[in-house]
Amino acid sequence: MKKVVLAYSGGLDTSVCIPWLKEKKQMEVVTVSLDLGQEFDADALRQKALASGATSVYIENLQQEFLEQYVLPALRANAAYERKYLLATALSRPLIAKKLVEIAEKEGASVVAHGCSGKGNDQVRIELGIFSLNPELRVIAPLREWELKSRQEEIAYAAKHNIPVAVSVESPYSVDINVWGASIECGVLEDPWREPPEEIYQLTASPQSAPDKPTYIELNFKRGTPVGLNGRSCGMMEIVRKLNEEGGKNGVGREDLIENRLIGIKSREIYESPAGTILHLAHRELEALTLDKETLHFKELISTKYGELIYYGLWHSSLRDAFDAFIEKTQEVVSGTIRVKLHKGKCEMIGRRSEYSLYNENLATYGISDTFNRTWAEGFIELWGLPLKLEAMRKKCLK
Ligand code: ARG
Repeated sequence: MKKVVLAYSGGLDTSVCIPWLKEKKQMEVVTVSLDLGQEFDADALRQKALASGATSVYIENLQQEFLEQYVLPALRANAAYERKYLLATALSRPLIAKKLVEIAEKEGASVVAHGCSGKGNDQVRIELGIFSLNPELRVIAPLREWELKSRQEEIAYAAKHNIPVAVSVESPYSVDINVWGASIECGVLEDPWREPPEEIYQLTASPQSAPDKPTYIELNFKRGTPVGLNGRSCGMMEIVRKLNEEGGKNGVGREDLIENRLIGIKSREIYESPAGTILHLAHRELEALTLDKETLHFKELISTKYGELIYYGLWHSSLRDAFDAFIEKTQEVVSGTIRVKLHKGKCEMIGRRSEYSLYNENLATYGISDTFNRTWAEGFIELWGLPLKLEAMRKKCLK
């Protein structure tokens, strides 16, 4: 029997994939479940995969690798999709693809399967990730192929194959969570006019019920990487966890977005990324202090492109390598401290300092210590405005 490596979450869809792959494709199924911070019971997951008919089960905690190798480059790039989405789901897919490829190669499997629906972005990201790492592998997406048309039919199929299905009240929402954030869609959220009900939020308290007293946090960066919190040095994991907690408590990091999916439709998605929101703000503010104008402005273009590249599933591409080389160079001076204030859904920057700051108080001041030579301004304005003068003079000749 041929072997297939299946990305397995333990939910109904991927549980049904196991007997379906065995029955319809005559394949032996190896499941892979990756812990990216979504909180699951590894023992229960293993039992369920085996009870559903898997031959072997891989469960790996990849939170550290996710934060350091995927989230961090995106943060240093200030990458967001359509201004609001900090890409928690999109960033996890290339890592999932990488692990699937690794395990397929180790197991000698020539086929990989996933439980993505045929309407979303994730199928594209996972498959592009697989192809860019091993173009020989073949992909099966059972949900695009099978005859099961509803949840009821899936449950019936599971029952027929003796698959354990947890009898739980079905949530009307589709939620994807990891350490970098949550993506929530479906149910009443499909009506873009409807205010999201409070119950959908996974990581944040409602801004109204958040504490009246603000929380102050100091973040240290070294070469564009967060390295400390409130004066204590710590790693990415500790910083992100702490900021999720503090940001979440203060209702920071909610977004409501109508976004343009890869497959052409617009969808409404709610995002929560408390740590991401705080870190993005702090990182941008530190760049404002330390990068020269032209680099800063040019990097904005890269940010947009970088966000698109992640969203479009092009993580494992030479374009990203090239962007990373540029970004690495720019981050040489992005070291320093940012002070933020979290209060009732808002995250504000309230102080910044850096040994590489380009801000010069003697030049900026309107006070007595001013060293700026005002007489130079006249000549500058004359030359800067010269092209406009020439145009204005020509206008007089135009009929
Ligand atoms: N729209 C987001 C993206 O394309 C999130 C997709 C997953 N969302 C979900 N609720 N399952 O990255």
